[in-house]
Amino acid sequence: MINIDKELCTSCGLCAKICETRDIAMTDEGPAPLGKDCSECGHCVAICPASAVELVGYDSREVLPFSPDRFHIDPDILQNFMKFRRSTRRFLQRKPEQDKIEAVLEAGRYSPTACNDQLLRYVVVEKDLPALRNLLWEGAAAYAQRAKDNYLLGRYHEFMESHGQIDTLLYGCTHLIFIMAPNENDACIASSRMELMANALGLGALYLGYCKLAVEASPALRKYLEETPESRTQVVLALGYPDVTWHRTVPRKPLQVQWK
Ligand SMILES: Cc1cc2nc3c(=O)[nH]c(=O)nc-3n(C[C@H](O)[C@H](O)[C@H](O)COP(=O)(O)O)c2cc1C
Repeated sequence: MINIDKELCTSCGLCAKICETRDIAMTDEGPAPLGKDCSECGHCVAICPASAVELVGYDSREVLPFSPDRFHIDPDILQNFMKFRRSTRRFLQRKPEQDKIEAVLEAGRYSPTACNDQLLRYVVVEKDLPALRNLLWEGAAAYAQRAKDNYLLGRYHEFMESHGQIDTLLYGCTHLIFIMAPNENDACIASSRMELMANALGLGALYLGYCKLAVEASPALRKYLEETPESRTQVVLALGYPDVTWHRTVPRKPLQVQWK
């Protein structure tokens, strides 16, 4: 639902034209929100030259006016940045500052979601990590036994025999972020942006596919994460300061593309 400030509105009609759900009618008195199918995408807020539109129920103080200095990213730099980021599997014990974790979460919060549902929920684990680590390994072992994944089982035995010294599930990260959502697509998109933001902040990140499987195999973990059918673990991200320095990018397989 939107609100239009009649004092500021110039009746240019841009909000009605951009509205994907056709929820703004143009009348003789100017644009009129119909309030039936608004998806709260905010296109009308962003396009209004007079700053006359606000989303009801959202904090308008978050709205940033465009300025090239603050918003422009050089495409070459962006491409290089994305090529240079690496999965981190060695972490320092130094904990990332709270504002950096919050900036990573903010990158998730601003990610697009299907129908603008914004149903993602995040569980950030720091203080519970030692106890959770054992539960995750138990879940991973349960999955590995069920799936006959001998690679993962071997790693579980290595973890147990080393009394937790060799941990190839969490790699000594200081934080885990569980991204909870009804579907995988929204969570994957959010996690990709969060990973990039983590790297921009000087943090290291790692997608933990095995941890997702561990959660699926563990009722205790699902309870801890307060899973519901609408809010299931879709992506698990490890975070922390990296204990590794990269000197270059790496090659990838050639692009597979069909131009038609
Ligand atoms: C969906 C997904 C799940 C992953 N799960 C794991 C994991 O459980 N453990 C791990 O060490 N790496 C995991 N990775 C990291 C990949 O192994 C890594 O991205 C790949 O080797 C390429 O390396 P790079 O990320 O440094 O470019 C995962 C990556 C993705 C995209």
